[in-house]
Amino acid sequence: MILIKSKREIDYIRESCQIVAETLQLVKRYTKPGVSTLELDKIAEDWIRSNDAVPAFKGYKQYGVMDFPGTICASIDEVVVHGIPSNRVLKEGEIFSVDIGVIKNNYYGDAALSIAIGDISKEKKKLMDVTEKSLYKGIEVAKVNNRIGDISAAVQDYVESFGFSIVRDLCGHGVGKKLHEDPQIPNFGRKNTGPLIKNGMTLAIEPMVNTGTYKVNVEKDGWTVVTADRKPSAHFEHSIAIINGKPEILTVN
Ligand code: MF3
Ligand code: CO
Repeated sequence: MILIKSKREIDYIRESCQIVAETLQLVKRYTKPGVSTLELDKIAEDWIRSNDAVPAFKGYKQYGVMDFPGTICASIDEVVVHGIPSNRVLKEGEIFSVDIGVIKNNYYGDAALSIAIGDISKEKKKLMDVTEKSLYKGIEVAKVNNRIGDISAAVQDYVESFGFSIVRDLCGHGVGKKLHEDPQIPNFGRKNTGPLIKNGMTLAIEPMVNTGTYKVNVEKDGWTVVTADRKPSAHFEHSIAIINGKPEILTVN
């Protein structure tokens, strides 16, 4: 069931989303070659807690695997999403994808971005650029009287026009009193299919784009999602609200 939020609820979600956006920018400022993803995780956690908020991913439960241990998901190169923060240090030439969720006043915010570590290859630059732009292509069509499939098709068409591939095993989602609510928002699909988009919906749109195959595998830790061919991947995500017929991006400062 897709929950429609009141203005007051959207204000709460916006507040959580603001903290997510600030934390992402903070992590970005501290990101450089030689810093470990665990150090960045600590910086993120401290900032979120100092805002009387709670990291949403830390302790997140998924049946049959350990609870997610980090505040951030730290996903490098062939890691698509859900990388676990560790002592691994970032190196020049890598793509570092950071995903952050926050709970405040019982409402969630969720967003992600990819960061280039120093100089990266032309192909990786293009991958990051196309992934970010595909997110905005999806957001643009997230308006009243369109359908969820319009978002999916806009993202997929844009990504594939550059010869990149869109991950199919993971998708965007509604966001609110839970991190993952209905509807599921696949990043591939057909126009004019799926649920109608209505005022008061709050959605997290999150294309994951690969330079090679769209196929992915999950590592033994139960979380880390990697490309099947170990080629690089990028990830951008915003939480949005549909207000007065149009999308408002909540996870921006
Ligand atoms: N943005 C991701 C998602 O919506 C992050 C989830 S990480 C988890 O699925 F640890 F919370 F699962
Ligand atoms: Co998400």
